[in-house]
Amino acid sequence: MNVGIDIEEVERFVKYVRDKKFLERIFAKEEISYSIPRKNVAQYLAARFAAKEAVWKALSTRNKKFTIADISVRNTKDGKPQVYIKNKKYKRIDISLSHTDKYVAAVAIAF
Ligand SMILES: CC(C)(COP(=O)(O)OP(=O)(O)OC[C@H]1O[C@@H](n2cnc3c(N)ncnc32)[C@H](O)[C@@H]1OP(=O)(O)O)[C@@H](O)C(=O)NCCC(=O)NCCS
Repeated sequence: MNVGIDIEEVERFVKYVRDKKFLERIFAKEEISYSIPRKNVAQYLAARFAAKEAVWKALSTRNKKFTIADISVRNTKDGKPQVYIKNKKYKRIDISLSHTDKYVAAVAIAF
């Protein structure tokens, strides 16, 4: 079992909200469409970015054949975040996200 954690400042992501090129390079289309309608778009993008880093850390001991941009989060209809790698659900990991106005955090446990 391996754990990964990440914390991000929401402010860092404000400038990216209108940068379509950046968004499409880093985030999956599902992550963009989940975040864009929100009142605080930067907060949701930051959470998804933190998720990628936490997952990357949790999988650090595994032989990775993907990049951080290949990791994405999609929420179930109950709101639970789930990890996808290269658009395929990655079942051997669990993730949890939390937001405040200024910070977001993500924890991932790979098993
Ligand atoms: C999960 C819950 C406790 C979040 O607590 P909170 O203090 O308001 O908010 P936090 O910032 O700490 O957490 C938000 C994150 O919780 C996660 N989350 C939401 N629902 C979740 C669930 N059912 N299970 C696990 N994680 C969940 C999400 O990742 C969310 O961030 P995201 O929308 O960017 O993906 C709260 O939303 C809740 O009680 N949900 C119950 C289920 C529900 O009513 N879902 C509504 C779906 S429309």
